[in-house]
Amino acid sequence: MALFSGTAHPELATAVAQNLGIELGPLKITRFPDSEIYIKFEDSVRGTDAFVLQPTCAPIDANLLELLILLDALKRASANSISVVLPYYGYARQEKKDRPREPITAKLIANLLVTAGADRIVAMDLHADAIQGFFDIPVDHLTAIGAISDYLATKNLENTVVVSPDEGRVKKVRKIASRLHCPLAVGYKFRPGHGIAEISGLAGDVKGKTCIVYDDMISTGGSINEIIDMLIASGANPEIYVACTHAVLAGPAVQRLSRPEIKELIITDTIPLSPEKRTEKTTVISVS
Ligand code: R5P
Repeated sequence: MALFSGTAHPELATAVAQNLGIELGPLKITRFPDSEIYIKFEDSVRGTDAFVLQPTCAPIDANLLELLILLDALKRASANSISVVLPYYGYARQEKKDRPREPITAKLIANLLVTAGADRIVAMDLHADAIQGFFDIPVDHLTAIGAISDYLATKNLENTVVVSPDEGRVKKVRKIASRLHCPLAVGYKFRPGHGIAEISGLAGDVKGKTCIVYDDMISTGGSINEIIDMLIASGANPEIYVACTHAVLAGPAVQRLSRPEIKELIITDTIPLSPEKRTEKTTVISVS
């Protein structure tokens, strides 16, 4: 087998290679003067079981196109099998039509990956489990819930409740709650418009409790901001732990997450974290 990294997240690919006791496969990725991507695998991959690690995080279009070109090169070089390790699946939130005349971009991406050469997908905490069915090839759907729960368990927090900002995350939050032997609470979230989250209600008792909020991803931080407002208004202990698998951290996210009620922000490294987005409250758990 051989493991290759695109340019999106070489640190994670290197950590995975170290855990496997192998070197990353050599390849050249450059750009032509007009910005077209050029890729060349430096050694033969004929007959190789090739794994390509590339989260399709921002800049999503560039990282996605680079991944597709990597797959095409492997296929044309007669790799035996091509597995795509997608720690983060960009466009996963467009997995269904919410309104007429919208695309289902998550399915389009699945089609593109298979057309380019993918034989297997290794994904992590997909925004919707049903995305697995967008592929007619095997999908290994991994989760960071175990690693996040194990980390939280080391904190020996007492009188805790695990909180989901919306009903979509309840299954995962229930797993954390069951590992930490504590109850759960769920927010009622709706989106009146693109990128706007409102939480209008909460099911579960949080009064006087230490809350651990989990979401699959934090994009603009709007959902987290809203659920924290709701928890504080419901009498929760104002030292709140916030955890997510995918720290997208777009737009106002860092500023929103700097609010004093957040005691710790626990994220994973499915997406590279730039230094200006890291604060003294940030803990990064590696999924490598
Ligand atoms: C559901 O919409 C997702 O699970 C996340 O809650 C959402 O993507 C977070 O986005 P934002 O941080 O912009 O509220």
